Formats: sequence, C-alpha cells, structure tokens
Amino acid sequence: MRLLPPEMDRILYGEAAIAERVAELGAEISRDYAGRDIIMVGVLKGAVPFMSDLMRAVTVSCTLDFLSVSSYWRGTQSSGVVRILKDLDIPLEGRDVLIVDDILDSGRTLSYIINLIESRNPASIRLCALLDKPDRRCVPVKVDYTGFTIPDVFIVGYGLDYAERFRNLPYIGCLKPEVYNPST
Ligand code: IMP
Ligand code: MG
Repeated sequence: MRLLPPEMDRILYGEAAIAERVAELGAEISRDYAGRDIIMVGVLKGAVPFMSDLMRAVTVSCTLDFLSVSSYWRGTQSSGVVRILKDLDIPLEGRDVLIVDDILDSGRTLSYIINLIESRNPASIRLCALLDKPDRRCVPVKVDYTGFTIPDVFIVGYGLDYAERFRNLPYIGCLKPEVYNPST
C-alpha cells in the first residue's frame, strides 16, 4: 500500500480504475479510426501520463506531436488568456487530428487550441479528455472521448498539478482544502 502525500485528502481514481478506462478509450478510438492514421496532439504538460498510456492502447497507426500553451491562472482557475509556448512540429493539413488533454474545465484553453488547429486545415479534429468538469464550462467545447465526468472539485495526479506539483502521482486525488487556503 502506497503512502499518500500529507497534502492528499482522498483518492478519486486509483491506478486500476484509470488503466481500465484508458484501455476502453483506446479500443473505442481504434474502432472509430480503423484504417486511418491519427496525429495525436498532446497538450503539455498535463496530458503526458494519459497520452503515453492512451497511445499504447490505440492499435491504429499513430503520429505524435505536442503543443504547450500557458493559461494565466488566478488561484485554481484559468483566466482565458492563452499564449503558445511550444507550437506543433508537424503540418496538420489534410490529417486526422486527435487532441489529447488531461481535463476540460472552463473550456477556455481547449477552445483556443481547437481554433488554432482548425486554422491549419486538418481533415478532422476530435478531442479526447481524460476528465471533464461540465459544471465549470464557460465556453462550449465538443468533446468526443471522455474518461471520467466529475463534479467541480480541484484534483491532482496522473498529469494534473497544483503549482506544478503532484503530476507524477499514478492516481487522481483531491488535496486537503488547507493546501489551497493556508489560512483555513
Ligand atoms: P480551462 O481553460 O479552464 O478549461 O483549463 C484547462 C486546464 O486547467 C487543464 O488543462 C489543466 O491544466 C487545468 N486544470 C483545470 N482543472 C484542474 C484541476 O482540477 N486540477 C489541476 N489542473 C486543472
Ligand atoms: Mg493542461
């Protein structure tokens, strides 16, 4: 039994639950894209653990690329101001693009990324997000593959961070409230 970091309140999805859901998503994506080549576009850094598991659960031919954007943060909320830190390396014209991200929250970051990718004239764009918090949506975003739909709670682990920490945890969990509000 792994010891939880002292800041962790509870585990939401353990390693086995994540692995099972990622395998299902991989099978669904492989069926939908049968006979085609995917460009999987990962959004750094949060998508890294999810994408590395998902790509191995996908059986169709797959090319990888990454992009990094900075969303300006107010506490635990993105502001909607997005800047590209690392652009894609591969031209997307005429390709089938699958965007892979950790979590769809307000939708601001992914809506910006989808518009950016659309402007490169791919044949198709689909979105796969491991987690979705629909209650928090400010900008509508169509998500094609979702791992887990969750309520409005701030979570960390399996790529998700708080102030760049906890991304390496193999599970997804909630931090204790006092971590965000040291005064409480
Ligand atoms: P959005 O622009 O509000 O949709 O923000 C999306 C990004 O915010 C995600 O890619 C994450 O990096 C981050 N984010 C949103 N919710 C959480 C959370 O609960 N924990 C950690 N990061 C989050
Ligand atoms: Mg992210």
